[in-house]
Amino acid sequence: MSKKPIYILAIESSCDDTSAAILKNNTVLSNVVANQEIHQKYGGVVPELASRAHQQNIVPVVQQALEQANIDKTELNAIAFTRGPGLMGSLLVGTSFATSFAMALNIPLIDVNHMQGHILAHFIKQRNANKITPSFPFICLTISGGHTQLIKVSSYFEFEILGETIDDAAGEAFDKSAKTLGLAYPGGPLMDKFAKNGNPKKYPFPIPKTKNDLDFSFSGFKTAVMRFVQKNTAENPNFISENLADICASIQNGIVTILMKKIFKAVKQTGITQIAIAGGVSANSEIRKRLKQTEKDFGWQTFIPPFEYTTDNAAMIGITAYLKFIHNKTNTTNTLATARLKVNE
Ligand code: KG4
Ligand code: ZN
Repeated sequence: MSKKPIYILAIESSCDDTSAAILKNNTVLSNVVANQEIHQKYGGVVPELASRAHQQNIVPVVQQALEQANIDKTELNAIAFTRGPGLMGSLLVGTSFATSFAMALNIPLIDVNHMQGHILAHFIKQRNANKITPSFPFICLTISGGHTQLIKVSSYFEFEILGETIDDAAGEAFDKSAKTLGLAYPGGPLMDKFAKNGNPKKYPFPIPKTKNDLDFSFSGFKTAVMRFVQKNTAENPNFISENLADICASIQNGIVTILMKKIFKAVKQTGITQIAIAGGVSANSEIRKRLKQTEKDFGWQTFIPPFEYTTDNAAMIGITAYLKFIHNKTNTTNTLATARLKVNE
């Protein structure tokens, strides 16, 4: 006789996306994401506005997730939520909603670390049943708007930080460079789009050095982009519009080269050749292409998440909760929203 399936409602509200997902075991039945467009005109996320928008979105987003999954709330076995890291006001909306909902339904509450969610999204069962998931240990480069980390993943619950950014995150390097070019927030996806028609070698940018070989630094890169744009627009006010594709391709090439160099160093240090990427920047077409190429060139095994699980989403929170649930790791009493939380906490 087959075991009864486990239905989990997961809620993600750590930054500027309100998301709810329903999982049946490791399969995603629905994954609804409400993006907050309000931040675009400010060139970055405004925390106060983000928490207000979460308040407005949370009920309709959860309702939609239940409808799309075609299940009733009484069928749920557990509720999962992002405990941190993230913006406190944003986290509080998801945490409070999840806690109350679990209490009302009298079912377990599962707290999830957002960064673990990005990584464990690789274990969501894909429609293509032949898709292989990483085996342990593997290395994951987590690249998002707030984080850039190289992590050795030894089990679903063991994460060792091999290196991380000492200043800006890779997503910030994309977004701030894009802002310098007058592009809307978040600039990463736009940079990717314009780069497609450009020459990545036209404008070389410096590759920063760090004391620890596996750490990252992007603040020097960002300043170099700013100076480069200032200098060239002083000489030609139309410099950006006349060369947008080449500038974007060159910036993207610079950031991706920094990321790939660190991956190579991590492989050399650890001997591990199973490499995954995760987080919003893993949606970038150039890093996806270059990582995939290592399979042919060096025989590595690489794991690139489907687009819908790269940027913030509740499905990744759901899969993490499911793995905790089936491995009896849910007896936590810590349900407080926590703005600063390391990947291994
Ligand atoms: O994981 P995420 O949705 O939120 C955080 O937890 O930070 O990541 C958002 C980041 C933003 O910086 C955004 O510009 C970047 O991911 N991003 C991209 C692309 N799509 C999203 N960066 C480069 N190329 C993309 N295609
Ligand atoms: Zn994220």
